[in-house]
Amino acid sequence: MKERPHTAVKLTESELDEIRTLIEHRSAILFDASRERFFSTRVREHLQEHGIASGTDLLRQVKSSSIAYEALLEGLLTQETSFFRYPAVYEALEKTILPEMQERKFWNNPRTLRIWSAGCSTGEEPYSIAIRVGESLKFAEAWDIEILATDVSRRALRHAEHGVYSRRSLEALSPTQLETHFTPVKNGFQIRPRTRKLISFVQMNLVELAYVGKVDCIFCMNVLMYFSEERRLGILRRFYEALEPGGYFLLGHSETLTHTPVKFEPVTLGDCRLYRKPGAAAPSRPVPALAEGGQ
Ligand SMILES: C[S@@+](CC[C@H](N)C(=O)[O-])C[C@H]1O[C@@H](n2cnc3c(N)ncnc32)[C@H](O)[C@@H]1O
Repeated sequence: MKERPHTAVKLTESELDEIRTLIEHRSAILFDASRERFFSTRVREHLQEHGIASGTDLLRQVKSSSIAYEALLEGLLTQETSFFRYPAVYEALEKTILPEMQERKFWNNPRTLRIWSAGCSTGEEPYSIAIRVGESLKFAEAWDIEILATDVSRRALRHAEHGVYSRRSLEALSPTQLETHFTPVKNGFQIRPRTRKLISFVQMNLVELAYVGKVDCIFCMNVLMYFSEERRLGILRRFYEALEPGGYFLLGHSETLTHTPVKFEPVTLGDCRLYRKPGAAAPSRPVPALAEGGQ
């Protein structure tokens, strides 16, 4: 992004510190030393865009109005994402996670599959999951599938729910995927209702306790770096609790769970490291088509 001149606004280091502390206190999102430049640039841009003359005025506004606070926070969140962002992760979903779920849960009644995209941004991640599940889960129509997609950003969720993307952002999709899951609209392509209805979008701050129920798989990619060590551990414990035994936890490409006292089993598949919650029961009977045809 092009940098703007920062001459017009008055913002001191101590005001920046106060804003940082306020955000950590209210939303538990941490802007530590590694993101100092990003933070001060974005706060200055916010002042300029909203015609706020100084850090003192901004502090007064965000302390007295939750709308003003949320507008500031929205501008500070990094929402970078893309369809099928890490291909190896989607390959693991197709080749390992879904076949295991298929085998273990096929005879369950109801036959449910729940996947949580935690920190889903503008929707590319949960839609990629939905596309891959639709393509790879055998007899997908016989399953009760829910992809729970949560984010703290209302603005990102509005985009996600609307489900309209430019042709460029859909480049990772094959022509068949594009035609099957999207319909052309004025500003690009919109997700088709059949795929859209697999996903529930919910506004949620990951540090706040909200009921999610049990899930089979959690994608939490490129989100945990925004929290302090202590908060991160709390969130990981919560993910562990929410997962079914045998369920999977997936992080972004450069993230790991090394030195974390949460008892996930690491599983390495080619380029991709997944984490599994131990303790899955063996399947009661084989899935007929899998046993016969090796599908
Ligand atoms: C860099 S994006 C990652 C999007 C996607 N998971 C991916 O990897 O492509 C990080 C997302 O985390 C969200 N986020 C940051 N702090 C959060 C919090 N406390 N609770 C929930 N979501 C949060 C941001 O709004 C943003 O959409």
